[in-house]
Amino acid sequence: MTSVLETAPAVTARAPAKVNLELGVGAVREDGYHPLATVYQAVGLHEDVTAATADAWGVTVRGRDAELVPTDETNIALRAAMLLADEVGGDLAPVHLTIHKRVPVAGGMAGGSADAAAALVACEALWAAGLSKAELDPIAAQVGSDVPFLLHGGTAVGSGRGEIITPVLAKGSYHWVFVPTPAEGLSTPEVYRTFDELTEGRRVPEPEPSPAMMAALRLGDAEALADVLTNDLQPAAIKLQPRIGEVIEAAMGFGALGAIVSGSGPTVALLAGSQEGAIDLAVALTASGVADEVLRASGPVAGAHVIPAPRLT
Ligand code: C5P
Repeated sequence: MTSVLETAPAVTARAPAKVNLELGVGAVREDGYHPLATVYQAVGLHEDVTAATADAWGVTVRGRDAELVPTDETNIALRAAMLLADEVGGDLAPVHLTIHKRVPVAGGMAGGSADAAAALVACEALWAAGLSKAELDPIAAQVGSDVPFLLHGGTAVGSGRGEIITPVLAKGSYHWVFVPTPAEGLSTPEVYRTFDELTEGRRVPEPEPSPAMMAALRLGDAEALADVLTNDLQPAAIKLQPRIGEVIEAAMGFGALGAIVSGSGPTVALLAGSQEGAIDLAVALTASGVADEVLRASGPVAGAHVIPAPRLT
């Protein structure tokens, strides 16, 4: 059992979840990944990770869906921290990570990737390693395709397999309602495999960010953005989890400006015109029984950053 002394040096970092405003997917590459042209937006639903000097490497997970997260070396945040330790070198003491979760696990909002991004920022600060975020990017990309974006946050285009980040000029703040739907049979690899099945025999063009999306973001107008939300993985996600399609249809009926599967799903992301609009939509979804639970968040927000102290709740 790892022990963390009350007085052990510790740093806490916070990282956001993401929604893909556009997710263009190309034909599967030889390495098994798919080329992406995606537009990420970081949203204000956060994971906190505390890195504390300890006598052995380890991880504790608290908060939402904590029981679904592995606490061995397959934990993505622990992997990120250990890779950074190798990179920094020298005689570093092991670290125990405590993760406080708020983002649904395996929901398409990159909660696990946020844990990895926060772990990198927390450990970098704990070790005073002097590495910039750009210098953390290669390690982030090694642990997951979404991790580099969550280091930087804001609104950005992701290319390659999603790990090559270019910031985008985006005005305004957007109000989202997220509806978690059951995740059975809907792992990210399974959704990509279903995408391959659905596109078999068709020529899948090389994905590119759309000029219409860039124009909507420059305008900073939620209605304009709602009109151009697209996700090439949506048909695959709905095929695996038909409930997603029902939630999207009901939400549009309740006045959502736009509705889209978040990443590979199964969370549904709904765009509202204002904070009041988001509250009304959330109430309509839960009161009608369409959703048991909804989460509200605005974006864009900052990427992973150190915060003063761990949350105690
Ligand atoms: O990079 P990450 O670990 O998040 O990816 C999880 C899985 O999602 C990959 O193993 C792959 O099956 C699929 N994936 C993909 N193309 C991408 C990103 C992920 O096929 N661009």
